[in-house]
Amino acid sequence: MKTENQTNRIEQPIYLDYNATTPHAPEVIAAMRSFLEEHFGNPSSAYSYGFRARSAVQSAREQVAVALNCQADEIHFTGCATESNNWALKGIAYARKNRGNHIITSQVEHPAVIEVCRYLERNGFAVTYVPVDEYGMVAAADIAAAITPQTILISVMHANNEVGTIQPVEEIAVIARGRGIVFHSDGAQAVGKIPSDMQKLGVDLYTIAGHKLYAPKGVGALYVRKGITFERLLHGAGQEMGKRAGTENVLHIVGIGTACDISARDLEVSMAHLKATSDRLFAGLSGLLDGVLLNGHPDRKLPNTVSVSFSGIDANALLSELRDEVAASAGAACHSGGRAVSSVLKAMKIPENRAFSTVRFSTGSPTTLDVVDRAVALITSAVKRQRGSSPMSCR
Ligand SMILES: Cc1ncc(COP(=O)(O)O)c(C=O)c1O
Repeated sequence: MKTENQTNRIEQPIYLDYNATTPHAPEVIAAMRSFLEEHFGNPSSAYSYGFRARSAVQSAREQVAVALNCQADEIHFTGCATESNNWALKGIAYARKNRGNHIITSQVEHPAVIEVCRYLERNGFAVTYVPVDEYGMVAAADIAAAITPQTILISVMHANNEVGTIQPVEEIAVIARGRGIVFHSDGAQAVGKIPSDMQKLGVDLYTIAGHKLYAPKGVGALYVRKGITFERLLHGAGQEMGKRAGTENVLHIVGIGTACDISARDLEVSMAHLKATSDRLFAGLSGLLDGVLLNGHPDRKLPNTVSVSFSGIDANALLSELRDEVAASAGAACHSGGRAVSSVLKAMKIPENRAFSTVRFSTGSPTTLDVVDRAVALITSAVKRQRGSSPMSCR
């Protein structure tokens, strides 16, 4: 992986938004290159061009399966994590609608789950959105309490994209299995950052996203435990073991396979690196500034994610001032129609003022400690300047 200096050759802002997306790993680019330049065959073709492409897709499926500790034919490639989530929720809801119409999820899911639930509510399903505690964590007991005889599906994310809190997925899986309910988890933010072992987690379906782990955008995967029956989302020809029609995106599938290979190989080192960089970031900011509060669980969280509130600061104004120096995300947005706090911070009952002063920083494998120190200095100066100027407002 390149160092941050190499990545930022032309004085790009320091990138601290790896939960939004990641650059391509050099090994991913190298593996994809021949499929961009040379191997263009259709995996369904019955001649050498097709065989080459088909074997690349199969190797990638095996690489993903090794990273998730499952079998290769339990992995289905998709166009993105959003598609995987749509497929998991709609696919199970429609396959099981004769058994019941109730779905359980949490209040801190990504829109790629929440909006699917809203759609299903408009189409005859009932959804319970289980609340979270102040750390953004769901209690497995609350999931159990929400189960009714009509419950057919539970979907709770593995790790939260905004605050990094890791949900008690293993405990929920035990409850779901005991009651014969299918359990899906959105692992888009987890894979490559924490262990994502399908056997240990005990989930039935699991979503992964290529571009969160140094593979390209536009590719994802859905793990489906053998024996789970679910409806198709895309109808057409017989690709993906007859379950997801459409000619395979061989290039990007090679990318996500390679990225999973790297993540399985390097996970321990990578976790230590992510933790070292994010701890340094938080220690730097909270050591140099007053009124810096951490959001999310202090321990059970992604090693790379630091969601902080800077008291008295408008996060959007801060990020706008830092636009050329540091790239990160605000926890709330100002629209022409007003102010919108993120649903995650709202569910955690973070007061509005604090939500508007919240910035999510997330480090990645190219982030060095030197880069973190530079970012801390830049952010600290900007916060001090802002605190010394106008009162907090939506600018
Ligand atoms: C937890 C989670 N799920 C799903 C998604 C959707 O990913 P994509 O936009 O790649 O489909 C994201 C993206 O940020 C995410 O963080």
